[in-house]
Amino acid sequence: MHLAAKADYVPDMEDTFEIFMVATPGLENALLSEALENGFSDAKATPGGVTITGTWADVWRANLVMRGATRVLARVGSFMAFHLAQLDKRSRKFPWGDILRADVPVRVEVSTSKKSKIYHAGAATQRIETALKDSHGMTISADAPVAIKVRIDDNRVTISVDTSGESLHKRGHKEAVGKAPMRETLAALMLRECGYDGTEPVMDPMCGSGTFLIEATEIAMGLYPGRTRDFAFQQLATFDGTQWDDMRRVGKTHTPTHHFTGSDRDAGAIRMATANAERAGVAEHITFQNLSATDITRPEGPPGLIICNPPYGGRIGNQNMLYGVYAGLGEAIKRECAGWRVGIVTSEAGLAKATGLPFKPRGPAIPHGGLKVWLFQTLPL
Ligand SMILES: C[S@@+](CC[C@H](N)C(=O)[O-])C[C@H]1O[C@@H](n2cnc3c(N)ncnc32)[C@H](O)[C@@H]1O
Repeated sequence: MHLAAKADYVPDMEDTFEIFMVATPGLENALLSEALENGFSDAKATPGGVTITGTWADVWRANLVMRGATRVLARVGSFMAFHLAQLDKRSRKFPWGDILRADVPVRVEVSTSKKSKIYHAGAATQRIETALKDSHGMTISADAPVAIKVRIDDNRVTISVDTSGESLHKRGHKEAVGKAPMRETLAALMLRECGYDGTEPVMDPMCGSGTFLIEATEIAMGLYPGRTRDFAFQQLATFDGTQWDDMRRVGKTHTPTHHFTGSDRDAGAIRMATANAERAGVAEHITFQNLSATDITRPEGPPGLIICNPPYGGRIGNQNMLYGVYAGLGEAIKRECAGWRVGIVTSEAGLAKATGLPFKPRGPAIPHGGLKVWLFQTLPL
């Protein structure tokens, strides 16, 4: 049964409903390809993410296995409301107790559209929170572990539960981060955009805290990205701990067929990257070295993928000095790495050009840390 078909309907364990995986804008198609590869066969890309239909077990699996998703929302119900009194009444009638536990605090976040008669998000939030408190005995708290996300569009109130909690880029095994770390979700989608599927070596000559290499090694080993962290869905009434433990355990891992190489001119970054790789359980497959990008040497074995995000002008460092850094990186790659492909993430086309590498036309702009960045890719050199 489709949720929108019946008001006040909440799915139970066997029912299917709409599940929305939030993507980094611009990378919806990369997330779609990951979802299809993971067996979410009805996945469809929409602006801002990927939609699938599934059960609560699919919600758990999406959180556990999807590397590129920022969070996973379960669309648990919807009803029409044309004014606040109606929102109040229907929110009171909504069977929250089928999904939420009275002993776990929740918070409510409402967004409205101009097409709706209810346009004041603050007033709508207050009505829903009061219904949760007064009619269902829930506790509302600004730092609650469970967030209810309500969208009011064209007078339809759609209720979603954020089943992830902390953003999924927090894999749970990385403590040390540098000045401008790449988010794990973005790194995974960039690796995918570069055609990386776990079967070739990867090198990052400006590896910082090691995000690209740790993601790449985990992919090569078949490790689940969410294997060590907790999720908001564990605090819902729909959670089944035994089934979840089975799901989390069945991950099949293997020894990677290739080796991974990271370097950075900052010794502190190399210490951080090494510690992060150890915590992730992938350190034995990565060699980290403290050296300048101009001093890299070709790793032994077949060619693979070089990927990095050098410093950006807008954020750290001085833009003019950076031209020299990019030029030095490009020269070293051309000198040492014939046959390797290159993917460089940066905020300036001019900086990418300074490498002298033969980039293909760049892809879409991707928001990252308050900036727009692009992935510049080459064919094998
Ligand atoms: C934006 S950060 C990379 C972040 C990294 N991807 C991560 O996830 O943590 C850029 C890195 O380039 C390093 N770097 C800058 N110039 C360099 C050079 N000439 N050679 C090697 N590393 C350099 C910096 O020390 C910094 O760690």
